[in-house]
Amino acid sequence: MKRNFYKATTVLLSTLTLSAAVLPCLAEDTLSSEQTALMAGSCANCHGTDGRLVGSVPTIAGRPAAVLEARLLAFKRDEISDTTVMDRIAKGFTNAELAALASHFSAIDPQADDATETEQEPQE
Ligand code: HEC
Repeated sequence: MKRNFYKATTVLLSTLTLSAAVLPCLAEDTLSSEQTALMAGSCANCHGTDGRLVGSVPTIAGRPAAVLEARLLAFKRDEISDTTVMDRIAKGFTNAELAALASHFSAIDPQADDATETEQEPQE
């Protein structure tokens, strides 16, 4: 599990670097649900499809948006000392994007069984 996690992390961080470069262009004042879903897709690799993975990476689906947003902003501001990757990830997004991601994941039912751990649902 750990080994897979690191492998996924490596692949992912390169994907994220790319997304971080491209996505800010998309995000002006308001983010459409399509834009947010695109950003949220990059979180699925570690947090599971729709953020519902239960394991060494914290579940983020269905948690209060204010809590998720506060955590993401704290990662971005280097206020969380035991972070491994989220500090770097959070820095790739604007505050508005982090808020949109927080409400995206808080709206997902963590108990729903239509997700698998490894597959990402196709974007509409
Ligand atoms: C490379 C794997 C990885 C990716 C990609 C990733 N995360 Fe995380 N996330 C983690 C890990 C590991 C933690 C635990 C804190 C740490 O070690 O940084 C975490 C913690 C969090 C937390 C705090 C949860 C808590 O209970 O404290 C939030 C919120 C979060 N991630 C949201 C996101 C969002 C939103 C994205 C997409 C933009 C994302 N993560 C992408 C691995 C990842």
